[in-house]
Amino acid sequence: VRFSSLVDRISGPSARAWDVHYRALEAQRLGEQVIVLSVGDPGFDTPAAVRARAVRALDAGDTHYTEILGRAPLREAIARTHNAQSGQSVDSDWVAVLAGAQNALFAAALCLVEAGDEVLVPEPMYLTYPAAIGAPGARLVAVPTPAANGFRLDIAALESAITPRTRAVFYATPNNPTGACCTHQELSSVAAFARRHDLWVVADEVYGRFCFERGHVSIAALPGMAERTVTVSSLSKTHAMTGWRVGWMVAPPPLIEHVRDLGLCMLYGLPGFIQEAACEALVHCDAAVEEMREAYRRRRDWAVTCLDAVDGLRCLVPEAGLFMLVDVRGTGLSGADFSARLYAETGVSVLDATAFGPSAQGHVRVSFAVDDEVLAEGCRRIAAFARRAVQDASPADVRRAERSL
Ligand SMILES: Cc1ncc(COP(=O)(O)O)c(C=O)c1O
Repeated sequence: VRFSSLVDRISGPSARAWDVHYRALEAQRLGEQVIVLSVGDPGFDTPAAVRARAVRALDAGDTHYTEILGRAPLREAIARTHNAQSGQSVDSDWVAVLAGAQNALFAAALCLVEAGDEVLVPEPMYLTYPAAIGAPGARLVAVPTPAANGFRLDIAALESAITPRTRAVFYATPNNPTGACCTHQELSSVAAFARRHDLWVVADEVYGRFCFERGHVSIAALPGMAERTVTVSSLSKTHAMTGWRVGWMVAPPPLIEHVRDLGLCMLYGLPGFIQEAACEALVHCDAAVEEMREAYRRRRDWAVTCLDAVDGLRCLVPEAGLFMLVDVRGTGLSGADFSARLYAETGVSVLDATAFGPSAQGHVRVSFAVDDEVLAEGCRRIAAFARRAVQDASPADVRRAERSL
């Protein structure tokens, strides 16, 4: 027996980047005092009203097959939420409910690109993009957004990566891991670029409601973009619902019809009681989202202040989301050595940001999705570790680490 070539396209360095995280989770399961700052799983509970709605639906027997693209009230609630957030004006025919933003990204890739196609993705990028884009056989072309420019989208770099095979641009704004948010001006340039080269744009906006500095911008609402944009989002982060697996895409109805066919052979709809709970989240829980956003902003400010004061560490202040990148080159360590030794010596897991793309070399990604006390203890251990590393580092170590970028 043998496997298909797909198995190679969905494995690889990005899939392995989670190793330190899985080790930390296993240690936590065994009762060790580890601190997991390596994943963006909100420390908040799902709002009580959402949990109660799921229980009521379960008790009422809502345990059967449901509509492939999602129930009408949920699709309508998603369309309303999307319109309010983006400034676009779509109805529920533009919505497919899927099992998380991840499932929506995968469905978009399967329906939009294939072998021989190229997809431009600014890096650093979320770790699952290579496998999602590689699965249908397309080639991911990573477009650098250098650290020296604050990891901002670089339209000239996009232009220079275009070939006759380019079919799409995938990106996340706000970005994971950098926390950078595209401005209206940047997205207007991307929109003009996409129209000029007749490209699809897949905009991953899972952190769109957690912007700290200015309003979120959706490319779908810019002129001439509705018919070529797929907006992907979910309840995972906004409503602390990662485990419920509720996400969606908003896209032109012809694509939604193809996603219905894909859903029929892949997912067959989300459970009804989950969809009822999702409706509750979208219709009645804006205040909870706002409270969480404020908490994340407070934690971000606190973590940045704490770590930036440490010799050898430099924080890039994230404009949004649940993560920050910390430049660790001043400690004389690479991102990989820093994260491996930090975990071994202090039990704090962070991710080597190189996994997200070469532009993030020399950085680690720290999540501030956890509770205040956990974050405080994690940052205290990171600071103590960095101070020790700086003391041990020779000037040659620091120069070598700084040259790595
Ligand atoms: C940028 C980005 N896109 C998509 C996802 C997947 O989200 P979901 O849980 O909705 O599948 C994540 C999760 O961390 C993410 O950071």
